Amino acid sequence: MKPSLKIIVIGLPILFSMDLILAAKPEAPVVHAEPALKDVFKKHFLIGMSADHPQQRRASLLRHHANAITPENGMKFYSLRPSPDVWNWEKADRTVDFATANDLKIVGHTLVWCYRMSPWVNERIASGELDKAAALALQDEHIRQVVGRYKDRVKTWDVVNEALADGPGPEFLRSDPWSDLCGVEYVVEAFQSARRADPEAKLLYNDYNLEFPDKRARLLRLLALLEERGVRVDGVGIQGHMQLSRLRLAELEAAIVEIHAAGYPVHLTELDIDVYSRGEGADVQRIETGGDAGYAELPEELQTQLAAGYGALFRLLVKHADKVERVTFWNVDDGSSWLNNWPVKGRENHPLLFDRAQQPKPAFWEVIRVAKEPIP
Ligand code: XIL
Repeated sequence: MKPSLKIIVIGLPILFSMDLILAAKPEAPVVHAEPALKDVFKKHFLIGMSADHPQQRRASLLRHHANAITPENGMKFYSLRPSPDVWNWEKADRTVDFATANDLKIVGHTLVWCYRMSPWVNERIASGELDKAAALALQDEHIRQVVGRYKDRVKTWDVVNEALADGPGPEFLRSDPWSDLCGVEYVVEAFQSARRADPEAKLLYNDYNLEFPDKRARLLRLLALLEERGVRVDGVGIQGHMQLSRLRLAELEAAIVEIHAAGYPVHLTELDIDVYSRGEGADVQRIETGGDAGYAELPEELQTQLAAGYGALFRLLVKHADKVERVTFWNVDDGSSWLNNWPVKGRENHPLLFDRAQQPKPAFWEVIRVAKEPIP
């Protein structure tokens, strides 16, 4: 009796711990035999992807193709500061650690995005508890803390995101509680605070729809105003959330050329090509194609169109490589794209170069082909 009991007692913990080891074992790393985007575009621009501390297969894909990363959500105000006295650094720290371990340039995103403050901020504005001076002081403190914490590792910041109004109207800034309260001062002071917190960091202004002349005119007005106030902006982020049915490449080219001519290097900060169409300009959320269902598999015809679209886009970016410092994809693969949940929740989208199994799509090979074309 005694010996067999001993075996059970010893045996169980061994089985148990083996099980734990198996459960914790990471998936086998994926070997990427395809050429790396960061290598083929080495002479042109940095290649980035956005993600919050990616895991396993997505981490391998990102490491193979990118030399820059933008934390997708973990550095946003609402994520870092869910309530007035709570700082939640975990997500951002993990992404910064991942980036540092893998030698990726980090683009901090974003110090101020008035449209996405925490609900408690908007409640305090509504109740009158937060007046303009207090709001600007809160912003300064926020920037000091965030830039200060990552000063040694994050040297590029999207300082202000999406401040400008859309459409042909007379409005200058996008209306929401924060910008209605603070006016353009919040943009000016955000850059001043970031500069004080890290005099050496590269400070960017980032927005969408800069391909539209109305919005671009507001951008140039904002940059001129900042310059008049002695505030240096080191570059402009064109988000680049494009639509396959209307790529607007000529408009994008005009934006790159004009912004650069005004003295600002361009970063394409959030590139993806939506295979469905939505409204444009001031009405981006209107659904035009795809309904709520979308395609689980991208039809052959759209796959080919996507490849041609990406090819044409990269041909344009290579042509203007002297003006474009970085091209960052918004997310890593189709499965992680935010467009699976916006503007329709739970609709499968296919906007990137890698599919849901992290495999290169025809669009990827088209982009590689462009990289190898002789420079015109
Ligand atoms: C998106 C994220 O990808 C989503 O996960 C989140 O729910 C909403 O924000 N413009 C920006 C990005 O500047 O921060 C947004 O990211 C996409 C649009």
